[in-house]
Amino acid sequence: MQSAANESLFGESFRPHLHFTPARNWINDPNGLLFYKGKYHLFYQHNPSGNLWGNMSWGHSVSTDLFHWEHLPVAIPCTDTEGIFSGSAVADINNTSGFGSTENPPLVAIYTVHQNDGTHQAQHIAYSLDEGITWTKYQNNPVLDLGMKDFRDPKVSWDAVNNRWLMVIAKPEEHKIAFFSSSNLKEWELLSDFGPLAATGGVWECPDLFALRDNNGETQWILIVSLNPGGITGGSGTQYFIGNWDGKTFSTNQKETLWLDHGRDNYAGVTFNGTHNDERIFLAWMSNWEYANDVPTHIWRGSMTIPRELAIISTGGTSKLVLKDSQQFKKLSRSPGIGNALQLPSEIHISTILKSFAIKFFDDQGKYIELAFDQVNNSLTLDRSHGWLAQSEEAQQHLPLLQQPESIQVIIDHGSIEISAEPHLGRVTSLHLLTGSQLQYELTNGNPEIKHETLFTTPQK
Ligand code: FRU
Repeated sequence: MQSAANESLFGESFRPHLHFTPARNWINDPNGLLFYKGKYHLFYQHNPSGNLWGNMSWGHSVSTDLFHWEHLPVAIPCTDTEGIFSGSAVADINNTSGFGSTENPPLVAIYTVHQNDGTHQAQHIAYSLDEGITWTKYQNNPVLDLGMKDFRDPKVSWDAVNNRWLMVIAKPEEHKIAFFSSSNLKEWELLSDFGPLAATGGVWECPDLFALRDNNGETQWILIVSLNPGGITGGSGTQYFIGNWDGKTFSTNQKETLWLDHGRDNYAGVTFNGTHNDERIFLAWMSNWEYANDVPTHIWRGSMTIPRELAIISTGGTSKLVLKDSQQFKKLSRSPGIGNALQLPSEIHISTILKSFAIKFFDDQGKYIELAFDQVNNSLTLDRSHGWLAQSEEAQQHLPLLQQPESIQVIIDHGSIEISAEPHLGRVTSLHLLTGSQLQYELTNGNPEIKHETLFTTPQK
């Protein structure tokens, strides 16, 4: 959601109300996700001077609740020859880098510098002593250079067991994730490589590694890897591995590919640094490289998914990673009446006990998208071909269900829809191009019990 000061910019078609968008111009991956001193920092891949990919720089926004964002000046700008590609940010509270002091710890950004002629990528750092507003590029950059053409997207976090920094980074063309350690964020030592494994139909990008306790209290390690193309629904997709991390090597017994989302628009997602250990908040770019530059929005282009909390559910010897509603989301959905400009049901729960159904969302231009639950084959399918780009060959967004869901949660915003089969049976995150604020829906078969409420509030246009 956007602050009132910016409201004139936010009335365009497809401008979401609940999802993050930049005030102007292009965005792709979330970068430098960091919770620090009560604020969520969202940096992002950004073209400060156009709404197509290019001039890659780090844009910056902050929020105290993950839904109301304040837009700040560009944090780390590109140069004429180099793009600032994806990466992460840490609060160096012990001042291991020496860029600040323990009284005023530096924030350190670790990112890929991409030569615009496509010849080379290496890892650089920059620091901020004013909570992320202004950044100074380190004078002895790069800090990690293997002389590779493709080597990118460092996710750095503090390894509390070994008392050092850990970097997880992609070797995209080799379908490998490499792990490095450092005591000061400036010198990095190789620990190991992981991969290739599971889905390798495109380049591997934007990895993340973290531990989570599952529903039985067992600690599991998760490695997230974005893949483009070769995703489950075509183009960009996010796979993950469940296994073990021993401080040096990631290992897994996993044979099959595991997908985090069965929709077309959940890519390059990573988790926030700086939150409580048991709280892993995941945020992704809500688009797909197959058509990202063609999505017909103006002034701005690109949005983020709803921030979700990750959890591991283990049953009968198998584990899976799920995207849950976050505490922040639940809090927001329970606070009615800040304004009611949103003319559409933003959150719908459909009880599915033993019944198939189809639900159609349509606008006043004759465009529609259709969500169908097939109780016999236990599957959920989103067809957006009648509410999408005419020139695009539209892939099915199909979620196979291992058991009968109890309900389906649908969150529909201007320009996007997020669907979840509950309890935790999977998600479909997708853009759509239904226009106007008078979005309606109808159930086209079956007779499920249906309940809808307008739960979210948005600024007046
Ligand atoms: C993923 C990605 C990253 C890269 C960035 C460039 O969407 O391709 O690998 O750092 O986008 O904008």
